[in-house]
Parts: sequence; structure tokens; C-alpha cells
Amino acid sequence: MNVELLNKTLVKENLLRYIIHFEELDSTNNYAKENNLPGDGIVITSHQKAGKGRFGRKWLSAYDEDLTFTLTKKFKINIDNLHLVNFYTSYILSETLNSFFSNYPHLRFHLKWPNDILVNQKKVSGILLEIRNLNEEEKIFHIGIGINVNKALIPEDISHKATSIFHETHKSHEIEKILIMFVEKFYECLNLINEDSKLMTLWKNNSDLLGKQVRFLVVADSHEEEAKIINIENDGGLKVLLSDGNIKKFHSGEITFVY
Ligand code: BTN
Repeated sequence: MNVELLNKTLVKENLLRYIIHFEELDSTNNYAKENNLPGDGIVITSHQKAGKGRFGRKWLSAYDEDLTFTLTKKFKINIDNLHLVNFYTSYILSETLNSFFSNYPHLRFHLKWPNDILVNQKKVSGILLEIRNLNEEEKIFHIGIGINVNKALIPEDISHKATSIFHETHKSHEIEKILIMFVEKFYECLNLINEDSKLMTLWKNNSDLLGKQVRFLVVADSHEEEAKIINIENDGGLKVLLSDGNIKKFHSGEITFVY
């Protein structure tokens, strides 16, 4: 990994205060949390050995092929608005990928509620947000991001739902440049966090969800319901029409598409 390029572009130009790189690390989110890292910096590793996903799942990445990093950022944000950091980050990531790969017209990156990024209907990136000090006014967010960039081998058991950019383009791409573009956009558009309705409209425009028939998994009790997505509301809730005609709103869970 070209850490010098990252430092030269992101730290020396004063966007970030630090970049900490490890050849190997269990989890960049854990490292950032356990070491109480301050805001405006990134921990990144070439080989994340025990990456964490949402709902206690694993996040697998390939040595020196994928992006696995944690951006630590402070936000003065009310407890009712925490979801906006999630929607902001995933929106900026989708914008970054669409703009970075704009010369591949067949490659459109879509958002999947609440914060996955899909390409050709398969997951290519995931985000895990952890907050260190929920009760304080200024909250410290550890924003963990994994992007399958140059992963050549997609494990057989997940190849129906996961992919990499290499797999879709048959070419390798410079992971450092994707990260640089993401950080630049992230710091450039921060005002959007204070404009929830504008942010959620932009988010919905980059998703392909409204009107879609999905299976909704309520992870807490593992039950599934089939539903049609009606809206993603400004509070981040997913509003669906159930097959019995009732309307329901979910704040956590996972959707899979019904084709
Ligand atoms: C998900 O889709 O379930 C979220 C995946 C998040 C993975 C990233 S990789 C960098 C950071 N460190 C971790 O241990 N997890 C996140």
C-alpha cells in the first residue's frame, strides 16, 4: 500500500491529522476504539484478519487487494439524528465510487438500506459505525468501511450476493486513489448532515429501492416478512407495505430482493 501517497495528499494538505497504517491488524474499528483515537484520522491495514460486519458477522478481505479502514470523526449531533452519519457516509461512498468509475458506464453503484453498496445487484462495500461516547454532546464516531476493490476470488458460498470491482471490470484499481477521493468528498460535503431532507433525497436517488419487492429480515428474532418498499423516511426508517396490506416502519434489519 502506498502510505506515502496517502500522507502526502490527506495529511500534508491538512484534511486529516493522522494516517496509521498496519501491514496486519485484527480490525481497524477495534484498534481505533481500543486506543481512543482522536478525530480526523484514519487507521488502515493491508490485511485485516478479523474484520467485523453488522450484526456480529465477519467481514472478509484479501491481503493488499481490498480497502479496510476506519475514519474517526467527531460530530456534535443529537441522539435522534445519529442515523444521519450513517446515511451521509454511505451516500458519499456511493458518490465516490460512481464518480471514480464514471468511465465504466455499466458500473453503477447503488445504495441498499441501511448502508450497503451494491453493484450489479451484489454487495461490494459495507459500513460499520461505532460510537465511543454516546452520552456526550460531541460524539466520537468510528466509521469502518470495507470495499472489495481488487479481490480476485469471491468465496463460492457468497458469490451469489457479493462481488468486487475487479470481478466486475476485470481490471485492478488503485485503492489509495479511491480512499483519497472518498476523504475529500466526505470533508467537502459535511453540511449535508444538517440538512436531513436534502440528504435523504440524495440518498434515495442513489438507491434503487422504492417500489421494490423485498424480503425483510428482522435480525433480532430472525423472522422474515415479504414487503414492498414505499419510502425511506427522514428519520432513516424503512417504510414498507406488507402482503397483508398493513404498513410498517423498520429501523433495523436487512433486506433481500425478491426477483
Ligand atoms: C457490513 O456490511 O456488515 C459492515 C462491514 C464493515 C467492514 C469494515 S472493514 C474496516 C472496518 N473494520 C472492521 O472490523 N469492520 C469495518
